Formats: sequence, C-alpha cells, structure tokens
Amino acid sequence: MEILGVDIGGTGIKGAIVDTEKGELISERKRIETPHPATPAAVAETLKKLVDEFQWKGAIGCGFPATIHHGVAYSAANIDKTWINTPVEQLFTEATKCQTFVLNDADAAGLCEMKFGAGKNENGVVMMLTIGTGIGSAVFVDGHLHPNTELGHLFLNTKEDKYKIAEHYCSERVRVEKDLSWSKFGTKFNKYLQRLEFLFNPDLFILGGGASKNFAKFSPEFQLHTRVVEAQTLNLAGIIGAAVYGAQHVKPARGKAK
Ligand code: BGC
Repeated sequence: MEILGVDIGGTGIKGAIVDTEKGELISERKRIETPHPATPAAVAETLKKLVDEFQWKGAIGCGFPATIHHGVAYSAANIDKTWINTPVEQLFTEATKCQTFVLNDADAAGLCEMKFGAGKNENGVVMMLTIGTGIGSAVFVDGHLHPNTELGHLFLNTKEDKYKIAEHYCSERVRVEKDLSWSKFGTKFNKYLQRLEFLFNPDLFILGGGASKNFAKFSPEFQLHTRVVEAQTLNLAGIIGAAVYGAQHVKPARGKAK
C-alpha cells in the first residue's frame, strides 16, 4: 500500500511516500522546519504545506513526540504544552483533508525496525529506544507493540543526582550539551540499560535515533547480559513506521474490492 509517512520532530517535519510492504520510500524525502512556537494550529498548517508539496490525497501515517491515546495527545515533554489533550488525529485529518493516523514517534520507529530492520523475526520482548532530544521507547512482545511506553522518563538513581529522569541523564541532547566523551556517554547509557534490563528482562535492545549512528563508539561500555544492537533503518524509521501504522488502520475506500 502507498501511504504518506510523516515524522514530526522538534526541529523538522519530514515526510515521504512509502511502499509499506517493501518498507521503501517511493518519493523523495521532504522536510519543512517545525514552526516556533510549535502550537497545534501552527504545526497543522505546516503539515498541510508538506502534504500539498506531495499533492497527496490518500491516507497519512504520522509519528508524533508524545503519548497518543486513541488519537489524543496526553503528554508534552519536549513539545509545546498546549498539545496536552489535543485531538491530534482529528486536527491533522481536518487540516490536510486526508485520513490521518497518529502514533508516538518511537512506536513508529519501532514498528519499522521490527518489520524491516534489526527486530525482523525477533520474538520475545524487544525494547527499542530512540536516543535524540528526548529518549523514546517502543516495547514489543512476540512482535506485538505495547503502545505509548515512556521509558525515557524512568527515574534513575545516579551518582550525580538522586532520581534523575533518564532522558535528562543520557539523551543525545545531554551528550551534546555536556560535551560528553563517547566513553562517558556509554557509561551513563549503560546505567540506564542496566536498570531497564533489571525491570523488564528484555531479549533484545535496539538503539535508534540520532546517537545510534555512533553505536560502535559508546557500546563498548555496556555491561549487560541482554543483546544490544543498533537500529538499521536510522533516520527513515520514523517515516516508514508511521506509514506502516497508517496502512494497518486505513479503511478500504467504499466500493473497492477487499
Ligand atoms: C517523549 C516521548 C517521545 C520521545 C522521543 C520523549 O520526551 O515523552 O513521547 O517518544 O521523547 O521523541
């Protein structure tokens, strides 16, 4: 199926038309700067511009950096607080005049990795973490997504601080802001993974997002019994996974053969 996949982030809104069976882009990838302030109305207008650039009239799958419960946003850690309680799916569907299906951005990246990347054919408990401005999580049990986990918000008891939120301790943003060496970053991320390992006993961690392209530089610090691998689809995972989600939810047009 062909679906327009969109990944809404703090700095850019990116999209491409995706072949959801093959997990491949069938158009170029376009990007528009996220407006500031990134209020619901401003983002909806920017999304419409992106959709118009593709002259797209079909269904849209859209990843969004918040928990999305039945189309409504319930959190806003790294986005404008006015998103909380916003019916995002309805807002985007009305703005674009295209049926739009919205899910958490890390869940979107996870869906892509499970279908086409490092999680392909992996059973048991797979935990995907996206390391960027925040830390997103997507948890799969035998290939099924448990949506809207927020494991980047887990409290860690660190040497520096008691009760530090994980994404304030070892996200890509923290690494850049504190100018951490890869080894120091790896040590911190290891602490986080050890906590997740203890609490959830996953079979596999997949690390994606901005920092993951440097996996080889920080992973030597890991001391875990769980396997840890880097994501394979990197910065396209959000777009492709969102499109896959759209394809899973779109209803066939009336009159068309099933
Ligand atoms: C948000 C998550 C999101 C992640 C990555 C976190 O701050 O709470 O919902 O998936 O950032 O964007």
